[in-house]
Amino acid sequence: MIASSNQNNDFRIISSPLQGLTDYRFRNLVHEHFGGIDIFFAPYIRLQGSLEIKNSYKNDLLPSLNKVENLVPQVMTSKSDEFLFVADFVKQLGYKELNWNLGCPYPMVAKRGMGSGLIKEIDKIDSILSAVTSACDIDISLKLRLGYESNQETLNLLPVLNNHKIKYLIIHPRIGKQLYKGDADLELFEQCMDICNLPIVYNGDIDSVEKFVSLKQRFPNINQWAIGRGVISNPFLAGMIKSNTVHLPEDWVKQFELFHDALFKSMNESLSGPGHLLIKMQGYWEYFCNMFTNPHKTFKIIRKAKSIAAYENGVVEILKQETGKNFKTLRS
Ligand SMILES: Cc1cc2nc3c(=O)[nH]c(=O)nc-3n(C[C@H](O)[C@H](O)[C@H](O)COP(=O)(O)O)c2cc1C
Repeated sequence: MIASSNQNNDFRIISSPLQGLTDYRFRNLVHEHFGGIDIFFAPYIRLQGSLEIKNSYKNDLLPSLNKVENLVPQVMTSKSDEFLFVADFVKQLGYKELNWNLGCPYPMVAKRGMGSGLIKEIDKIDSILSAVTSACDIDISLKLRLGYESNQETLNLLPVLNNHKIKYLIIHPRIGKQLYKGDADLELFEQCMDICNLPIVYNGDIDSVEKFVSLKQRFPNINQWAIGRGVISNPFLAGMIKSNTVHLPEDWVKQFELFHDALFKSMNESLSGPGHLLIKMQGYWEYFCNMFTNPHKTFKIIRKAKSIAAYENGVVEILKQETGKNFKTLRS
């Protein structure tokens, strides 16, 4: 246990989405195996030039496939007709909120005036919000970075956002151009809090209980915390934060193994062919490896696997090495 302010659990933890990784299969299994997450956000829906939603996006939101209690869909667009179309689609599925992605940092997206590339276009955001908040009867929330080119962009936008009916803002205090480099800018985050009348959710670099506690101490008025990469790097993290412990469960390797095997099975059932399955699982291990004693070596074992059989042997090797003499893995 650590002495801290998170003992009352007077806060909520949001799973921030990672496109390609935190789909419904992953979300269901994280919820079932680890708990601790109050709200899951789905990765963004992006339309491809027509008012039509791809089947993969549709499946990801189908209530029959989703077992988590609170799921918020997300849209990435710079057009109000697309926004309204997606809002109507998610409303028909029973969702009560749509999150607008103004945070995606990738140049291909930003240069097309979407994601964090849209933040500097204050008038456009103003007019999209006017159009959508008056026409749709579900809640709208926003997810933003500090800007794309400059960390002043969101600060300039906030007075406009204050005038709209927005449920809350999730702010990841980096600019798009940084991608994930450098530190999250906590001073700028604080300035956003000063200017903004809307509830704010903090997002960025929460990868340990200690980090969470220090952020909570610095921002005691924030009561919603969004964790992206940290949920994959350590799926126990939300539960550890909630129970105020810095220690993984004693049998964490076994628990992780059960989760991993269920994820593998679920991906195997839905992906077409071993090549896709291998790439998908390697994508998760880029993050999972951080839980292990030697992350670099762990990921190398997975990365060099060229077949599913080699992958499975690699996983056995990793789990055995980590387990040491304490207890047996399910496989041994
Ligand atoms: C591979 C990848 C895909 C992402 N996809 C999305 C997405 O679909 N929607 C979104 O709002 N954020 C997306 N993000 C951003 C994360 O949700 C999160 O905001 C960001 O990683 C910072 O939080 P963290 O430090 O807790 O990971 C993505 C990030 C990564 C690395």
